[in-house]
Amino acid sequence: MTWPSSSRYGIASRVGFGAGKVILLGEHGVVYGYPAIAAGLALGVEATAKRSSEHRLRIDSWSLNLPADPDSEEPLSRAFAMCLDDREPLPHPIEVACEVNLPPGAGLGCSAAIGVATLRALDEILNTQSSPEQLQERSLRWEKFFHGTPSGIDNAVSAFGGIVRYTRGSGVRRMSCPSALSLVIAHSGASSSTKDMVESVQRQQRHEPQKVAKVFQAIATLVQNAEHTMASGNLRHLGQLMTLNQSLLATLMLSTGKIEELCEIARDAGALGAKLTGAGGGGCIIALCEDSDQAFSVAEALHEKSESVFMSEVSS
Ligand code: PMV
Repeated sequence: MTWPSSSRYGIASRVGFGAGKVILLGEHGVVYGYPAIAAGLALGVEATAKRSSEHRLRIDSWSLNLPADPDSEEPLSRAFAMCLDDREPLPHPIEVACEVNLPPGAGLGCSAAIGVATLRALDEILNTQSSPEQLQERSLRWEKFFHGTPSGIDNAVSAFGGIVRYTRGSGVRRMSCPSALSLVIAHSGASSSTKDMVESVQRQQRHEPQKVAKVFQAIATLVQNAEHTMASGNLRHLGQLMTLNQSLLATLMLSTGKIEELCEIARDAGALGAKLTGAGGGGCIIALCEDSDQAFSVAEALHEKSESVFMSEVSS
């Protein structure tokens, strides 16, 4: 989704949006080729591109104002340089300013959303239009500056939006779900590094390959069940599958005491299921609710123990 230039952003500026995401089921296994289901959020990143005297990437809320430098130690600076390099020859230097409405390191796909928003803002100012597939491909290269070996799910969801099934091999398949899913998203207060969490699973995989493969196969079975369940609109069953997914992720030491506590509060308050989302080791949990009224009660219950809580409806 992109918005044309508007008075809010000034005459010569162009705005692109990159959606944040939640992984409903299947994180980590997706790195090893297993399937996962994820949904784009209405919350994300807005990037504004404008003509400038030199290439710059700004994120004011993070006090960042970076050049496009392929040799920089700052991955954002290298990633931005790559995006511009792809678009050469450029008619003039470009400044991109990102308004990031996602917490970083929280499992909500913040770096991918910055990438997709930046690419869309460049499209807007250069009067070009990338297809979702082109955006997916370019934003995967962007993600590699941050996570080393990303599965590609975060940037794919950010580029496509909606609810998607994703595997590394076959990419994105849009899923249909008869009604919107009411989610509550609660931040545990700790941030975590996706790279570190993925590496921790890699270490376990080297030491106990059979155990890790069994866990991922079990998660893949949950994903397969969830596909049928979502198509039929059986939310209760979907919630149970999410809770089972949480238990399996915990066996890979991806959960924390706080995440377990928040999941339990959500379930006790009536949520149909709850789990961590994204890399784990901190970050956010998601709780699936019957409807927005229930989501409100669950959000209220989580409020005191979470750093922040918000409700989100996701749909196909
Ligand atoms: O925490 P996030 O938003 O970066 O999500 C990571 C998802 C993983 O499956 C753990 C890693 C990946 O590349 O898919």
